[in-house]
Amino acid sequence: MLIRNARVMTCDPSRPGLGIVEHASIAIDNSRIVAIGDVTATGDVIDAKGALVTPGLIDCHTHAAFAGDRANEFAMRAAGESYEAVAAAGGGINATLGPTRAAIADGSIDSILHDRLVALRAAGTTTCEVKTGYALTTEGELALLDAIVRSRAPLRRIPTLLAHLVPPERTADRAAFVAEICEQWIPRAHAATSVDVWCEQSAFTLDETVAICDSATRAGKRVRGHVGQLHDIGGADVLARFRALSVDHLELVSSAGIAALARAGTVAVMLPGACVQLRLPVPPIAELRAAGVPLAIATDLNPGSSYCESLAVQMWLATTHFQMTIEEAWLGVTRHAARALGLEATHVGMLAPGAPAELVIWTTDSPIDVCYRYGTSLVGRVLTP
Ligand code: NIG
Ligand code: FE
Repeated sequence: MLIRNARVMTCDPSRPGLGIVEHASIAIDNSRIVAIGDVTATGDVIDAKGALVTPGLIDCHTHAAFAGDRANEFAMRAAGESYEAVAAAGGGINATLGPTRAAIADGSIDSILHDRLVALRAAGTTTCEVKTGYALTTEGELALLDAIVRSRAPLRRIPTLLAHLVPPERTADRAAFVAEICEQWIPRAHAATSVDVWCEQSAFTLDETVAICDSATRAGKRVRGHVGQLHDIGGADVLARFRALSVDHLELVSSAGIAALARAGTVAVMLPGACVQLRLPVPPIAELRAAGVPLAIATDLNPGSSYCESLAVQMWLATTHFQMTIEEAWLGVTRHAARALGLEATHVGMLAPGAPAELVIWTTDSPIDVCYRYGTSLVGRVLTP
C-alpha cells in the first residue's frame, strides 16, 4: 500500500525538529512502514492531496475504564466549589466506584470501554494507556484489567494497574489495604506493564507509595505516579528513586524533585485539561524544560477532572495555557508519550522504516493548525492495521 502526495511529519529523532518530509510517499507492507520519501509500492494508493500525515497519537494517561459520570460535580465546580470540597462531600473517585463495580458485575463495562476507545481513535489516538483504579477490590481491579486487554477496539491498549485511593470501606485499616495491593493485586496483575499510584494527601502517603513501588519492582513492573496535583508531598523524589517511567500532573513539584526526575530519565506527563478544570497552578514548564525532563501530554480522560477524548484539545491547552511550543506539543503526543509507556524500542510514535503503520491524515497541511484550531476536529483519516 502507498500513501502519496503527503506532508509527512515523521517525529523521527534521526531527522531535525519534527522531521518533516515534503511531497513524500509512505510505502507500507504487512502493517509496517517500509520507506518514506520518493518511493513507490504496489497495492492500494491513498492520495493525501498535500495534507499533513503524522504518527497516530499516543494518549499515555487515561482512566477510560469507568462507568457513570460526575456531571453533577462539574456543575458544582462551575458554581465555585473545589475538587477537594466536592470529594469530601461524598463525590470524587469514591462516587465512581459504585457504577464501575456494577458495570463489572453485569458485564456492561466492555461496551462502555469499547465506545470510549472508539471515540479516542476518532480523535486520532492509535495507542492508548488505560488505567484500572475505579473498582479498588482485588477481583474488581483484575476484572478491569481483563476488560482493557480483551477489548476489540481498533487501537493499541497499554494497561496500567492503578492504586488510586483507599476506598471508604477500607480506611479503618489502611495498612491491610496497602498490603493487599502489594501481595494480591500486583502479583496477579500479569497484563499490566506498569503500576501507577496516586501519591497525595487524600490518597497514598509517601511510605505507602514506597511499599507499592517496591512490590511492583519486585514483580518486574515499571512504576509511574500521579504526583503533585493538589499538594507536593515529595512524590517526585520517591518515584525517581524507582526509575519511574513517568510522573504525571506535577502542578506542584520542588526543584529537587525536578532534578531527581531529570537524573532518572523519567518523563513528565502534562495534563492541562485536568489542570484548567480544577483551577490548579500551571506546572513549572520552563524549569522542567531547562532540566531536560522530556514532556508528554495526555487527556487524563476520567469522569472527575477531565472528561475529554481529544489529544488535539490538550495540545491547544498545552500551547496556550502552559506555553509549550508547537514542537513540544507534537513530541508530547508522539515520541515522548511512547517513552512514558516504555514503548520507545517499538518505534511507535514515529514514522520510519520498521515502525507500525499507524498514522493520521489530517485535513490541514500545517502542524500548527492542529494546536491552533481547537473545537473542530482536523482528523481526516486514521489508519491502523
Ligand atoms: O488524574 N488524580 C487522580 N485521579 C484523577 C481524577 C480521577 C477522578 O476524579 O475520578 C486525575 O485527575
Ligand atoms: Fe489521572
